[in-house]
Amino acid sequence: MSDSLLLTIAVLGGTGKEGKGLAYRWARAGYRVFIGSRAVEKALLAANEVREMLGDGVILEGKSNLEAARDANIVVLTVPYSAHRETLESIKAELKGKILVDVTVPLVPPKVATVQMPAAGSAAQEAKQIVGEGVEVCAAFQNISHEHLLDNTDVECDVLVTGTSKDARNETIKLVEAAGLKGWDAGPLENSVVIEGMTSVLIGINKKYGSTHAGIKITGIH
Ligand SMILES: NC(=O)c1ccc[n+]([C@@H]2O[C@H](COP(=O)([O-])OP(=O)(O)OC[C@H]3O[C@@H](n4cnc5c(N)ncnc54)[C@H](OP(=O)(O)O)[C@@H]3O)[C@@H](O)[C@H]2O)c1
Repeated sequence: MSDSLLLTIAVLGGTGKEGKGLAYRWARAGYRVFIGSRAVEKALLAANEVREMLGDGVILEGKSNLEAARDANIVVLTVPYSAHRETLESIKAELKGKILVDVTVPLVPPKVATVQMPAAGSAAQEAKQIVGEGVEVCAAFQNISHEHLLDNTDVECDVLVTGTSKDARNETIKLVEAAGLKGWDAGPLENSVVIEGMTSVLIGINKKYGSTHAGIKITGIH
């Protein structure tokens, strides 16, 4: 088993659309995965659901968000932007020395096809302000529709990874690849503003052209 497979991943809000899909993909790849929720019962149900899809042999547990964050090496946040600050405040004591991968897009309903970034610059930069020193923060998966994740088909959309250090970005790219996706190092966390904002552009394209999962792909690299 490689070092990376010894990692345990907590997916906070993993009962939802995006988080459950990511949990499915990482459990399928052999990682130990904790699905986190505000309600343990809900986390257990989601973990059972994913386990039934994948069969015996996967290591997947349901926990409270706090326990999931405490017991994992890497913590992935997949909650609506309206719950972003509150969720981070409630678990930040468990994040020291870990990597936080923020998947949150700062959508402001009802105009979700209009880019509306927070004062910090992006949701991921806001996350860094909340969790403080001693936590590496990366942003990833914002442009991957959940519709791609809960099955085994190839995904045409790439994942741009930004983050507070090169090492953290490299670790996150390993998770992207484990999920069966192509990841690119897109530079410092400040660049997450473009990638989070791109999601609103993709939502607008979906509406205009009758799709549900428009995506992006990096070209020109050999
Ligand atoms: N859906 C996509 O295709 C997609 C694609 C890219 C990025 N994203 C981003 O990923 C994040 C999650 O999206 P999603 O579609 O998976 O969302 P979702 O299904 O609506 O919610 C995810 C989970 O967040 C928790 N949650 C919901 N409301 C909350 C609240 N008020 N306070 C605390 N927790 C709350 C819930 O978990 P519990 O009730 O179990 O606590 C829920 O299952 C969002 O920021 C979204 O923009 C989504």
